[in-house]
Amino acid sequence: MMIDTHCHLYDEAFDLDRSQAVQRAVDAGVNLMLLPGIDSQSHAAQEALEAQFPEYFRQMMGLHPTSVNSDFESELAIVQQKLFDPQRHYIGVGEIGLDLYWDKTYLEQQSVVLRRQMQWARDLSLPVCLHVRKAYNELFGLLRDLNYGSYRGVMHCFGGSVQEAQRAVEMGFYIGIGGVVTFKNATLAEVAKAVPLERILLETDAPYLAPVPYRGKRNESAYIPVVASKIAELRGIPLRQVAETTTASAKDLFAL
Ligand code: NI
Repeated sequence: MMIDTHCHLYDEAFDLDRSQAVQRAVDAGVNLMLLPGIDSQSHAAQEALEAQFPEYFRQMMGLHPTSVNSDFESELAIVQQKLFDPQRHYIGVGEIGLDLYWDKTYLEQQSVVLRRQMQWARDLSLPVCLHVRKAYNELFGLLRDLNYGSYRGVMHCFGGSVQEAQRAVEMGFYIGIGGVVTFKNATLAEVAKAVPLERILLETDAPYLAPVPYRGKRNESAYIPVVASKIAELRGIPLRQVAETTTASAKDLFAL
């Protein structure tokens, strides 16, 4: 059994074959998939998918950094209302973070939104799922200012250096590894070898970032074994060990 700790199977990329994609994942041994929130545009689809296959999905809730603009307060209010609704059950706050890849215009607002959601995660004793792109310095600075001491969460789709990964692990974070680890000359391959196996989580980020040999095509949760095999190969350990250890870590972090 393996867990896809980060996928967007509610994305419109799966509108024509969503049930089959779920079945392919289950057939591949991936019988639990975690759905991060993005913004109010996708909440309905996310909730519908979990309602359709409650045994295979768990939900997180959060406002994604690339969905942050000058109008962020109304989006944050929706996230807050859902997170604190006792009728709902979220396993984490995410995905939240900083993304300076496309645009630095809203860095200030992204920081405000991230801090607010980090506090909610703390209030609710939930782990965080962090999305960080071209912003590791800014993120570490923000975490230093927050000064929580230790953190419960995952740096999803990790894209930093080995040093940054080790720093994140020391702070308490897990490292989310997906299809990029199969790309040629990926720094992520070095990261996958350097960090403790107990701190690695498997993820796809489907429909994005499909592993080789599917690179460039739509990604899906059924490809989790491809990622796990690559990590096993890089570390020179059996696939079974990667599957068991990462599954235990995911269950631990998200209290599954
Ligand atoms: Ni994502």
